[in-house]
Amino acid sequence: MVATKPPKNQVAEQSDVQSRSKDTILTPRFYTTDFEEMANMDVSSNEEELQAIIAEFKEDYNRHHFVRNDQFDGAWDHIQGEKRKVFVEFLERSCTAEFSGFLLYKELARKLKGRNPILAEGFDLMSRDEARHAGFLNKAMSDFDLQLDLGFLTKSKDYTFFKPKFIFYATYLSEKIGYWRYITIFRHLEQNPEDTIYPIFNFFDNWCQDENRHGDFFAAMMKSQPQFLNDLKARLWCRFFLLSVFATMYLNDIQRKAFYASLGLDAREYDIEVIKKTNASAGRLFPVVLDVEHPQFFAQLDECTKHTAAISEISNSGQNKVLQTLRKIPHITAIGSKLINLYFIKTIRTDNETEVVR
Ligand SMILES: [Fe+2]
Ligand SMILES: [Fe+2]
Repeated sequence: MVATKPPKNQVAEQSDVQSRSKDTILTPRFYTTDFEEMANMDVSSNEEELQAIIAEFKEDYNRHHFVRNDQFDGAWDHIQGEKRKVFVEFLERSCTAEFSGFLLYKELARKLKGRNPILAEGFDLMSRDEARHAGFLNKAMSDFDLQLDLGFLTKSKDYTFFKPKFIFYATYLSEKIGYWRYITIFRHLEQNPEDTIYPIFNFFDNWCQDENRHGDFFAAMMKSQPQFLNDLKARLWCRFFLLSVFATMYLNDIQRKAFYASLGLDAREYDIEVIKKTNASAGRLFPVVLDVEHPQFFAQLDECTKHTAAISEISNSGQNKVLQTLRKIPHITAIGSKLINLYFIKTIRTDNETEVVR
């Protein structure tokens, strides 16, 4: 979140949340795209599958799911200190990410209306779901006397431009990884109910099904554009986005291991599980997946986490900014070179190309 200048009327706690939030490469981002290109996209070659998913969206299985019930009528004072800080940060980041999905899908629905009706309808129904998710998280934040000013966030956030094809790769993966993140936490807490420190996790089961369906919609859109999936360029981009999404999550979560520990989870084991599952899911669409079983895969990522830890230590040192930047350079270079090593680990070819609708 990038809200560095809170409006005057915001409560003290709010400005506190905003002032300690820093916009970094690992912060949830807001996206925009080439609406003209998206409007002209011919998806008729896979219309049947897209319509089937839209029909499922319309069933609206979670219409009554995101309702706050008496489980929330508790005092949350038992979540204190460092635990409270990382917990609130989790709510804040998740709310921002869900809200960013809502804004992108809503804008796409608006711009494509009347021009590309199938995509417009799909985006509109997905924006409905993301608005619910963001709203539910924002209400949870109010249990901790905090609230994200979503209107302010909309106006103040920087938007990153991605061409439609990159929106597809990135958003497909973020929906699928979102599904695996939520379901993995849900299943863990189902087996270890004593670790459920707050009721929002009880909602993750149906919630993650929304994300899974969203991922399926993106998969169906990509299948209608075989050029996104069936040549050397496509293989290189799939490889790039898989690595970016996995590395971003890994580096983020290892920095926030206190949050996962508060749920009785080991952040590293949790991430490895989520990455393996998402990689396998992506293998049903992408022409290549990453070799996450390669001995160097998580070893290189672990090396990167040492450097991200050093960078945040420098950021918190209170030193002069120029000196900080100079001290960070070797760590940034080291992360870059490890990511390049990871990119060049031989990928695994899937046999999807023959299944692509032509
Ligand atoms: Fe969502
Ligand atoms: Fe979603």
